[in-house]
Amino acid sequence: MKKLLAVFGALLATLAVQAQKFEGLALTPPMGWNSWNTFASNISEKVVKETAEAMIANGMRDAGYVYLVIDDTWSLRERDSNGNLVADPVKFPSGIQALATWLHERGFKLGIYSCAGVRTCAGFPGSWGHEFQDARTFAAWGIDYLKYDWCESGTANAKDAYTRMSAALKAAGRPVVFSLCEWGQNKPWEWAKDVGHLWRTTGDIYDSYDGRKGWESGWKVLLDLQHTLVENIGPDGIGKFSGPGHWNDPDMLEVGNEGLTFAESRAHFSFWCMLAAPLMAGNDVRHMTPEITAILTDKEALAINQDKLGKQGFRAMSEPSDNLEIWVRPLSNNEWAVCALNTAPTKATIKVEWHRLWTIQGKHTVRDIWNKKDVGTTDTDFSAELESHDVAFFHLKPVQ
Ligand code: GLA
Repeated sequence: MKKLLAVFGALLATLAVQAQKFEGLALTPPMGWNSWNTFASNISEKVVKETAEAMIANGMRDAGYVYLVIDDTWSLRERDSNGNLVADPVKFPSGIQALATWLHERGFKLGIYSCAGVRTCAGFPGSWGHEFQDARTFAAWGIDYLKYDWCESGTANAKDAYTRMSAALKAAGRPVVFSLCEWGQNKPWEWAKDVGHLWRTTGDIYDSYDGRKGWESGWKVLLDLQHTLVENIGPDGIGKFSGPGHWNDPDMLEVGNEGLTFAESRAHFSFWCMLAAPLMAGNDVRHMTPEITAILTDKEALAINQDKLGKQGFRAMSEPSDNLEIWVRPLSNNEWAVCALNTAPTKATIKVEWHRLWTIQGKHTVRDIWNKKDVGTTDTDFSAELESHDVAFFHLKPVQ
């Protein structure tokens, strides 16, 4: 009898695990494009298709940016008489399903947005009380990725609300990457590993280095929060909760947007690679400079972001008096990524003294990613003049 009970228990445990998120998705940080940062409510089928065509032409799709995500404001203000969500027929005249098919034929995946509350942040219908119905709608349309926000959630318990939608997606049967957008308010890194594939850790980003505008912050503020969000949990902040299939999300990219200098765009991108962050381009990729395209599609930088070990980088040194901050990230095969930032508001010479990065043991060769140069080994310190808020970004390999 005892044996039978044990078998039954094991069976139940398996079922419980199966009721969780889709496994095997997002084993490296998801990459794609999201409409919100540039288009906000000016989203349409036309913009999505033109974006896809631009990403085929400029190499982004082939570099791995395959998830095109339509953010808030895609639906009508009210559900239909059966309680179904309805795509705005002016913005999406062919409907979402036709758009999904069009994208799938071109090697993309389609993401959409909803909210755990009764209304989305822009006042459109949220999925509260309609989770299973909406998940079925998304599956029928061919949706591959769901960003799920947290506005108008009242007194809901975040873990319960996100677990309900995760179960609804699972029940609908179509594998979906589930992106929790709860802004880190209920410490999703502590409970969301089995619920979704990525979770926002902070409020919203905007195209600034370290500005603050109400709810929105520049990327450097969000970067610092990855380190300081949780006190007393060790030197790598919340990084230890991130890994293959379950990523910390410091929000989407502002690379190429006008509030950032070229150096700030490049540094922002480098740090999101260091953080193993999802890389969701947030600019108008139909009209970007070749320099910005080169950043977004740089194979060596993307190899750091997509490293299979999936460990998040952490701040190893912060020396305000030297205008210097250095982050390190362990990679597979005992390799490392290192990113040194000039925090000064002017050009400055920054120095990387390898022996001070004590977590990196032994001698390594040093590759300068942005200058496409091998620059010797960690026996020789590195020094260079950097523009304000620019980085020196390195890939280190152990010398056998
Ligand atoms: C919240 C999210 C943003 C965006 C908007 C849309 O602020 O954090 O990323 O989705 O809602 O209204």
